[in-house]
Amino acid sequence: MQTGVPNQAVPGITPAAVTPKSPQRIGVPREVFPGEKRVATVPEAVEKLIKLGFKVAVESGAGDAANFSDEVYRAAGAEVIIGAAALWAASDIVFKVRGPTTDEVALMHEGQALVSFIWPAQNPELMQQLAAKKVTVLAIDALPRTLSRAQKMDALTSQAGVAGYRAVIEAANAFGRFFSGQITAAGKVPPAKVFIAGAGVAGLAAIGTAASLGAIVRANDTRAEVADQVVSLGGEFVKVDFVEEGSGGGGYAKVMSEGFQQAQREMYAKQAKDVDIIITTALIPGRPAPKLITAEMVRSMKPGSVIVDMAAEQGGNCELTEPGQAVVKHGVTIVGYTDLVSRLAKQSSTLYASNLFRLSEELCKTKDGVINVNMEDEAIRGLTVTKDGSITWPAPAPKVAAPAAVVAKPAAVVAKPKGGHGQSSEPASGTSMAIMFGVAAAVFWLIGASAPAAFLSHFTVFILACFVGYMVVWNVKPALHTPLMSVTNAISSIIAIGALVQVSPWVGAADRPNDLISWVAAAAIVLTAINMFGGFAVTQRMLAMFRK
Ligand code: NAI
Repeated sequence: MQTGVPNQAVPGITPAAVTPKSPQRIGVPREVFPGEKRVATVPEAVEKLIKLGFKVAVESGAGDAANFSDEVYRAAGAEVIIGAAALWAASDIVFKVRGPTTDEVALMHEGQALVSFIWPAQNPELMQQLAAKKVTVLAIDALPRTLSRAQKMDALTSQAGVAGYRAVIEAANAFGRFFSGQITAAGKVPPAKVFIAGAGVAGLAAIGTAASLGAIVRANDTRAEVADQVVSLGGEFVKVDFVEEGSGGGGYAKVMSEGFQQAQREMYAKQAKDVDIIITTALIPGRPAPKLITAEMVRSMKPGSVIVDMAAEQGGNCELTEPGQAVVKHGVTIVGYTDLVSRLAKQSSTLYASNLFRLSEELCKTKDGVINVNMEDEAIRGLTVTKDGSITWPAPAPKVAAPAAVVAKPAAVVAKPKGGHGQSSEPASGTSMAIMFGVAAAVFWLIGASAPAAFLSHFTVFILACFVGYMVVWNVKPALHTPLMSVTNAISSIIAIGALVQVSPWVGAADRPNDLISWVAAAAIVLTAINMFGGFAVTQRMLAMFRK
């Protein structure tokens, strides 16, 4: 209900802060976009925002569609304000999900800050309206996603993950069979076959969900680097029989050549005939969605099959999709819902609220309830699309390289002379390498000249073991270091055997070491036992994570 009553008329609500250091009020209005059920903050996040020093106000009824009542917000410490006008007037900062409508922009006041989805490239008019209002706007969709520090604030990812999950649930709902294969007294049920086109965030979530329901899952993407991720989630990566780099930078795809598209169509046509469910998520930023599933492919699918076209809002990946609708064509149900995230409003709101809370932490490092839109901070700079009325979008590209680009250049990395291992920040120069080798050679010569022969042979084995261990460990991908270390810990316990020999009662008196060596050996047994059993325990726990 919009009362149009200014905030002064609401008991207990003071106007937006004027002194820069008094705690600012974050206001959360009810979403006005038809069918939007999400809300920009949830009671759990309200408590955390208050701990950061902010005051929080929520428009009455803002959380109703996501199952968060006014009472729960009040219990978490939020003020509940009746009416959008009063809420906007009382807020220094507004948290929203959807970008503001023209009516909402009219409610904004100079100096106010807004955090929401904006899509500045698609909404130049909205950008002009916001600039004219002299407000500061942080577009959550403009976050530089390649900054690892930004991941906790990445609402595109959190929302796409929910959508991918929901797409599978919608497919299961429209599909007339089980996902998992079963052998029952009544007969054998084959597992459903699911093909996922595009393995971005939504696609990967869909792969994981469909695999956990027991389906046979296949996936394809133009970016070859996602193949490992597809496999790790229980899917099979289906390649297109055409060699072309599909990465367009920043972890996103590019438009592929006609030759690639032809080869891809052939592969998709084969899959369409074979699978029961297709979920399409293919998207190239700033472009209409690529048409991957033709009408002919739909016709070739088995009756009762299902297509969920997640790219419906960008024109759809399937030629027969009707955005916002579920339709049956040629016996195939084609789901083109554009509100998949809203269909899990409680979950998506909770994740979105968490993203905005993390952003608030970055904006308010002093924890005094006052935000600082620091344009020197790459993440904040990327998000800020208007600052006090000036349009600051698009931000310069962040300085860090995208992970995809790093993966795409293995040859260059291998070709470099290695000063250490592949992880070192700067390869050592030729001179420093020569000096290092010279010093090492001199040390070995000194040891060799003075040490006993027995020591020398053990020492040589020790140095070789160090070298081999170093080369093995550093050539393993960093993501696999934990499982590797859990196994090597166990293997390294070979030390225990040496120590046991030292303290063994069967060693002849002549060979018995002195007391000091026995004590050192005993200590080595205790330490390596911890290492050994710890290594096996960690390995066991890691394996358990991958067992169903
Ligand atoms: P993303 O950009 O992370 O992933 C898209 C993937 O498609 C990328 O991995 C890209 O390499 C791949 N791709 C691009 N062109 C391709 C081609 N020709 N063949 C195969 N793969 C190709 O996007 P995200 O966040 O995963 O979202 C996926 C789609 O889902 C988008 O269209 C997005 O708008 C939509 N979406 C829909 C929702 C709904 O309610 N319907 C909600 C959330 C997202």
